[in-house]
Amino acid sequence: MEMKSYFIGTILLLIIVAPSVAPTPPALYVYGDSLVDVGNNNYLPNPAFKANFPFQGIDYPGSIPTGRFGNGYIGPDYLAKYMGFLQSQPPYLSITNENQTLRGVNFGSGGSGILNSTGLGTISLARQVMYFQEVASNLSRRVGNLTAKKLLAKSICYISSGSNDIFAYFLTYGLLNKTTNDQFIATLVKTLKTHLTTLYNSGARKIIILGTAGLGCTPVMRSLLFPISGDCSKDLNNLSIQFKNETRALLQNLTPTLSGLRYVFIDAYEMDSLIRANAHQYGFTELTNACCGLGRFNGQAPCTPISNLCSNRDNHYSWDLVHPTRALAKLISNMSYYDSLHVFPMNIQQLVNA
Ligand SMILES: *[C@@H]1O[C@H](CO)[C@@H](O)[C@H](O)[C@H]1NC(C)=O
Ligand SMILES: *[C@@H]1O[C@H](CO)[C@@H](O)[C@H](O)[C@H]1NC(C)=O
Ligand SMILES: *[C@@H]1O[C@H](CO)[C@@H](O)[C@H](O)[C@H]1NC(C)=O
Ligand SMILES: *[C@@H]1O[C@H](CO)[C@@H](O)[C@H](O)[C@H]1NC(C)=O
Ligand SMILES: *[C@@H]1O[C@H](CO)[C@@H](O)[C@H](O)[C@H]1NC(C)=O
Ligand SMILES: *[C@@H]1O[C@H](CO)[C@@H](O)[C@H](O)[C@H]1NC(C)=O
Ligand SMILES: *[C@@H]1O[C@H](CO)[C@@H](O)[C@H](O)[C@H]1NC(C)=O
Ligand SMILES: *[C@@H]1O[C@H](CO)[C@@H](O)[C@H](O)[C@H]1NC(C)=O
Repeated sequence: MEMKSYFIGTILLLIIVAPSVAPTPPALYVYGDSLVDVGNNNYLPNPAFKANFPFQGIDYPGSIPTGRFGNGYIGPDYLAKYMGFLQSQPPYLSITNENQTLRGVNFGSGGSGILNSTGLGTISLARQVMYFQEVASNLSRRVGNLTAKKLLAKSICYISSGSNDIFAYFLTYGLLNKTTNDQFIATLVKTLKTHLTTLYNSGARKIIILGTAGLGCTPVMRSLLFPISGDCSKDLNNLSIQFKNETRALLQNLTPTLSGLRYVFIDAYEMDSLIRANAHQYGFTELTNACCGLGRFNGQAPCTPISNLCSNRDNHYSWDLVHPTRALAKLISNMSYYDSLHVFPMNIQQLVNA
């Protein structure tokens, strides 16, 4: 008797709980830079940046360096997991069989940017979008145009790009005047708009953009610009704020034009500021020094087998000169997926369900 009511109770609970469980989208497509590259650059010749050697991946299952720029899982790994995928989407350049593309593909390439001129030898965002067109057209061939259209409309596109363009501009020209900065940001936004429109025209309807964060607070910029005080570069942060503000506005302005487009803008800059301001609450005790690297703030050289390596990776904000630790990537992914703070106009879970 008791057993029976327990059983009924469980069934009722399942019925009540089931509808709130988010359906897995048909596929996740990932585009952008080293914050999302899960191994594409391994297939590229130099000078493309690589991360397929220790201490990269030291906290990845099996402690293996995979080409991810980080100590373990990175953003798209967590997002894929939250969406219900059993595995993270494979790097485009690793694909040998079309069946591997059915749950989505990761086109990300470390060092790449929105502009073709950013990141010599990497896969530019323009080319990543072309690769997506190929995948979408193959999907149409396999399942027919109408089914492909429906599947793509429910799939998620996640883009992380712009930081490398801003770094390149800043390092090449230094801080220019407001006019020049405004022109540069306008070019970035205009080019991003072209890429988004191409994605839309190829069938994408649910797009997530990760905004640029506090680029001036990365260990590389602190060591370069403020080696004594360790301050953040306000100029560089301002450029990042200007770009993320305009990206958010672009998405807002695009939706009436591109009918049926839904998006999430992740204000990573504000999340970054919030986490830094409440670091202890989030489990971070080291905000300035990178975990793996060399020189001032471990920010003067990439993470390699000869780098300094911190012992507690999880309390560090930065893994290396520019990349977040696994702990931070997980936190930002979790906040973007489930929270309502600094995600516009909805969080990723709501986009998946929309
Ligand atoms: C798309 O289809 C073409 C032609 O069959 C094939 O050569 C190519 O490898 C496919 N691309 C992907 C990413 O599956
Ligand atoms: C792809 O999957 C289909 C269906 O499972 C199978 O029939 C086909 O042989 C697979 N193709 C390859 C190249 O493995
Ligand atoms: C960027 O590169 C793509 C191909 O990789 C090309 O089609 C496009 O015209 C280029 N854009 C500019 C502005 O040069
Ligand atoms: C599917 O779409 C492609 C490209 O738009 C077109 O060339 C093709 O004729 C379409 N196929 C069918 C069966 O409608
Ligand atoms: C800003 O810098 C550009 C490039 O150096 C220069 O051509 C322009 O005159 C400057 N404008 C102002 C207002 O200083
Ligand atoms: C940053 O931008 C704000 C608002 O646009 C401006 O007031 C401030 O002077 C800028 N700071 C720097 C260092 O450029
Ligand atoms: C960015 O947007 C915020 C809020 O909308 C605004 O307060 C700030 O002045 C903007 N900053 C820049 C540099 O555009
Ligand atoms: C997301 O973070 C919250 C708060 O820390 C935590 O309770 C929850 O388990 C996390 N969700 C996942 C899926 O990791």
